[in-house]
Amino acid sequence: MTRTVYVNGEYLPEDQAKVSVFDRGFLFADGVYEVTSVLGGKLIDFAGHAKRLQRSLDELQMANPVTEDELLEIHRELVRANGIEDGLVYLQITRGAADRDFAYPKEATPTIVLFTQAKPGLADSPLANTGMKVISIEDQRWGRRDIKTVQLLYPSMGKMMAKAAGADDAWMVEDGHVTEGTSNNAYIVKGNTIVTRHLGTEILHGITRAAVLRFAREAQMVVEERPFTIEEAKAADEAFITSASAFVMPVVEMDGQPIGSGTPGRVTARLREIYLDEMRKAAV
Ligand code: PDD
Repeated sequence: MTRTVYVNGEYLPEDQAKVSVFDRGFLFADGVYEVTSVLGGKLIDFAGHAKRLQRSLDELQMANPVTEDELLEIHRELVRANGIEDGLVYLQITRGAADRDFAYPKEATPTIVLFTQAKPGLADSPLANTGMKVISIEDQRWGRRDIKTVQLLYPSMGKMMAKAAGADDAWMVEDGHVTEGTSNNAYIVKGNTIVTRHLGTEILHGITRAAVLRFAREAQMVVEERPFTIEEAKAADEAFITSASAFVMPVVEMDGQPIGSGTPGRVTARLREIYLDEMRKAAV
């Protein structure tokens, strides 16, 4: 089945959608993206993703070719056209096509592309019951990780390192402290306290993170936003990650060592349940 994708104002079959070889997303990774999950045919936290998209664009002085209402309409139309019940909508905006030059071109029309990925049973992943194994690796990314750019080569390398080690993912470490997972935010739980790195330029400001921390505080859980070490993670009672595609997912092993009991923890399970319940209710 060929998908319907969206490119610069048009809905097209995926094999007819084209972007210029001079596109700066292709040549310079001069572009930003968002991934929004779909559950039951509805978008999870669309407003959060639209807001972060605008922030990423502003940080790079890149024009936004669509309004938030138009963006919502495009998301909905792609979900409808492709019959997505559970899955993801991927959105990318680049600075557009221009003759190759490091300086931003004075006049370029942004390129906007969206496509869907069907993921039946996205919220019922078996990993939620078994938990993920992670390894620790050095964080070798650039310094503006708060901007959601398409330069994802190091995270790809990190996933391959994890795969080679028989693990599911990698947590990245800088100056002795965990920044985040290759494509998710990282948390540990010790006693009743949830610890996750504070916001800054070192990590992506996860949309799932913001919602989960809000729900945790509403449920009277203690949240500490500060850097933590791999040693703290290994000595923690529980660990988990959050992202738009994994929601809240338990981590049960770090560098071959079990975390806590080596099985998904109670706090993690509770947060996953609250997150999915509340976000399904608020889905658009
Ligand atoms: N990744 N940190 C990084 C480095 C990420 O790439 C992501 C998301 C997150 C979590 O952000 P959010 O909760 O807004 O999804 C944190 C997406 C899912 C991806 O690249 O597929």
